[in-house]
Amino acid sequence: MSVLITNIGELVTNQPDDGAAGYAAIGGAALVIDEGRVAWTGPAARAPAADQAVDAGGRAVLPGFVDSHAHLVFAGERGAEFAARMAGQPYRAGGIRGTVAATRRASDDQLRANLGRLAAEMLAQGTTTFECKSGYGLTVPDEARSVAIAAEFTVEVTYLGAHVVPPEFAGNEAGYVELVCGPMLDACAPRAAWVDVFCERGAFGRDEAAAILAAGAAAGLRPRVHANQLGPGPGVQLAVQAGAASADHCTYTDDADVDALASSPTVATLLPGVEFSTRSPYPDARRLLDAGAVVALATDCNPGSCFTSSMPLCIALAVREMHMTTQEAVWAATAGGARALRRGDVGHLGVGARADLVMIDGPSHAYLAYRPGVPLVAGVWRAGERVAGAGPGS
Ligand code: NIG
Ligand code: FE
Repeated sequence: MSVLITNIGELVTNQPDDGAAGYAAIGGAALVIDEGRVAWTGPAARAPAADQAVDAGGRAVLPGFVDSHAHLVFAGERGAEFAARMAGQPYRAGGIRGTVAATRRASDDQLRANLGRLAAEMLAQGTTTFECKSGYGLTVPDEARSVAIAAEFTVEVTYLGAHVVPPEFAGNEAGYVELVCGPMLDACAPRAAWVDVFCERGAFGRDEAAAILAAGAAAGLRPRVHANQLGPGPGVQLAVQAGAASADHCTYTDDADVDALASSPTVATLLPGVEFSTRSPYPDARRLLDAGAVVALATDCNPGSCFTSSMPLCIALAVREMHMTTQEAVWAATAGGARALRRGDVGHLGVGARADLVMIDGPSHAYLAYRPGVPLVAGVWRAGERVAGAGPGS
């Protein structure tokens, strides 16, 4: 059954007429969904007939958000750690070990229920594609069940056995890297698409990270890297050299890092919710964009450094705090995220794209930053099915 969404105030397609990559939108638009795909877009006055019509009432319609970085397989919470940070304590990556202990104690059903709740929360806020990492198990069986549970909810599953060195391997980092590159990888690779490593002082160094990415690649997993989050380091350069789809965080980058990103297809995925929630300096998005790097925005939703699942919040922070234009931020949260996952079927609304849409209570995309903190999502469609908001005209 085909569906016509008409009377759209602004339809963000991310399909410029000249075929270039970038933000693009149509005013006074309509869109037709057929067989779960976008079948037509254009001026409402020229829209073809369809089996069913939805009146958007002048609201804006955008591609569903693509959240390309999230850690959702965990148990427990770290609200006290957040409160201590806000009272002046610095963020420490070591907090991850508290979540590891809680995750190991949890049953599969508890992990599944927590992830299901967060996935529903994301969908209700317009996120129609999300990536999900393991990394709070850090034993062979706990990592294997983490990727298996993640795979129940998304195809974008990332093996992050190299999150931190778990306490039982303290002083034997090399032994842990061997496990991550060997039996743990063997147990996780069948259900994962990606391999990630936290390349940072206090986590994994350059050579260890390179070995982990290479082992993952040999097992068929494509690389992505947690890079330059807490200080300058080799993560960004490693990501580019390894052909990673994305270097994530990029909070502390120098000229050579920016040049490397600008001259490679590796996406710079910025996670401004982390800087907000850890009271840290924001990454220099303008410098990356002006140099020509491809920038994505994602939540990094996790119980430690940033416990938000809201892409609209990330857009608002990117605009207000990182000086991205409203168009750049919306592109980064949709098409940018799709690039970071090397997906061509989502993040835009060209004909043939998966019909993943979010309708917002406002006439333009700018409302996502202009009305921060307001629940603006009036409707969500995933693969052509309306999955949230019984809203206008339905
Ligand atoms: O992306 N950087 C490493 N991992 C997460 C933090 C996880 C945690 O604090 O539990 C991040 O910020
Ligand atoms: Fe992360």
